[in-house]
Amino acid sequence: MSKVSCIVKMIMVTMMMMTVTRADSINYGEALRKSILFFEGQRSGKLPPSQRMKWRKDSALSDGSDIHINMVGGYYDAGDNVKFHFPMAFTTTMLAWSVVEFGDLMGSELKNALDAIRWGSDYFMKATKFPDLVVAQVGDANADHACSERPEDMDTPRTSYFLTKEKPGSELAAEIAAALAASSIAFRATDASYSNIILNRAIQVFDFANKYRGSYNNSVGAAACPFYCDYNSYMDDLTWGAAWLYKATKKTSYWDFVKSNIEKVGVDPYQFGWDAKTAGINVLVSQASFCSYSASADLFIPDADKLMCSLLPNSPKYVTYSKGGLLFKNGPSNLQSVTALSFLLIVYARFMDHAKKTIPCGQETVDSKRLISIAKTQADYILGNNPLGMSYMVGYGRKYPQKIHHRGSVLPSLDSHPQHLGCRDGDSYFKSEKPNLNVLTGAVVGGPANDDSFQDSRFNVSQSEPATYINAPFVGVLAYFNRPTIPATVV
Ligand SMILES: *[C@@H]1O[C@H](CO)[C@@H](O)[C@H](O)[C@H]1NC(C)=O
Ligand SMILES: *[C@@H]1O[C@H](CO)[C@@H](O)[C@H](O)[C@H]1NC(C)=O
Repeated sequence: MSKVSCIVKMIMVTMMMMTVTRADSINYGEALRKSILFFEGQRSGKLPPSQRMKWRKDSALSDGSDIHINMVGGYYDAGDNVKFHFPMAFTTTMLAWSVVEFGDLMGSELKNALDAIRWGSDYFMKATKFPDLVVAQVGDANADHACSERPEDMDTPRTSYFLTKEKPGSELAAEIAAALAASSIAFRATDASYSNIILNRAIQVFDFANKYRGSYNNSVGAAACPFYCDYNSYMDDLTWGAAWLYKATKKTSYWDFVKSNIEKVGVDPYQFGWDAKTAGINVLVSQASFCSYSASADLFIPDADKLMCSLLPNSPKYVTYSKGGLLFKNGPSNLQSVTALSFLLIVYARFMDHAKKTIPCGQETVDSKRLISIAKTQADYILGNNPLGMSYMVGYGRKYPQKIHHRGSVLPSLDSHPQHLGCRDGDSYFKSEKPNLNVLTGAVVGGPANDDSFQDSRFNVSQSEPATYINAPFVGVLAYFNRPTIPATVV
């Protein structure tokens, strides 16, 4: 656990010992459990006996054979069957950050959260096994997207794409370094030897990312972009990788890297996701001024403050809120911004509590409780407290999306239909008016439109497709709200 949580942990223990009541009927514990379970539905490769989402089976067991590297494992990013390592690495980083910050609030779910991280970190150890070579993606995305097949039936080309010194991809390699460094912190308390092994790999992969600079846009080209282009520069990803390595190693060289590059990252500082990392860097390293591992984190605090101000409902330049109260940023699958920014709101609010700090936002003075209440409104909206009374987490609540855009969920499982289903055999299931055949429990979908309306349609992809990077930060958010309510007298 991070040093930041050192003080909080004592307070939490005290609070948990008190008899407390929940403020409302939302069951954050159930939502937390399901948000983690979802990752089992996204697993690629050989499934272990402990697999709980039983309708999913082994898939893609020859991945990597074209380049003679065992690339079996990892996660499908969303509703299709490609393994895009850029968003997969961000997903793994955010699962790990969720545990680093909130693992002590997860109770029996901590083990499942660590399993979800390891499914990613084990895979990235395979992707970085050879020095100066990083596997960037497995699966031909165009061929994959031209079919509607179950992962278990997949027969489209599983082409492996990789980075070398001559064809670098700094954003992708740096995000993998971040994922391994963050995971090493998450595993420190329970598996120190694994933690050390993956940290050493993170160091090596960051060196590769930094030494051979370039964008994977160009190196992997049309195989990855237009799907997951690095729309920003790769400097934010490199700086983010360095920030995680600093947190994991405390080596000043990483800290110097972060300090000297934070002004150059030049991307939207008010957005956070698999592409834009600046907001995350500012929040992550603000904590470094705590438990005294560096005084110069003050450099980042003003920018993190501005980020928090930008998320207030009265900052329409950067963010809008629907009538029902949901935060909106530009771009598809809006809930990815909602979960990621809510995560940052909570982490920063906890930091403000330690620092006994408020933020001046124009006329208003904002305290930590204000930020927590915005994050709580968002979590509660997602779980059903919204004008439609609709939960956007599959399998949670009495009303949730029935026709999500996800092949494994739409098509019958191997249990009920063992025969092979070919490229276009899935079409009739996609077009059906009936609910999906398999419940992808815990999946958070792209979410409603900014008028709070939602089309429960497999063809409204931006609304109905789940993605690993929507869920990953939500795991941390739900762990935080799963703690007992703080009685007013304690605060
Ligand atoms: C990657 O490609 C996208 C789409 O063409 C472009 O907008 C972006 O600037 C490119 N990024 C880099 C780092 O070259
Ligand atoms: C998805 O649904 C929203 C309404 O909630 C609508 O505005 C939008 O046009 C739909 N998109 C597609 C691709 O059908």
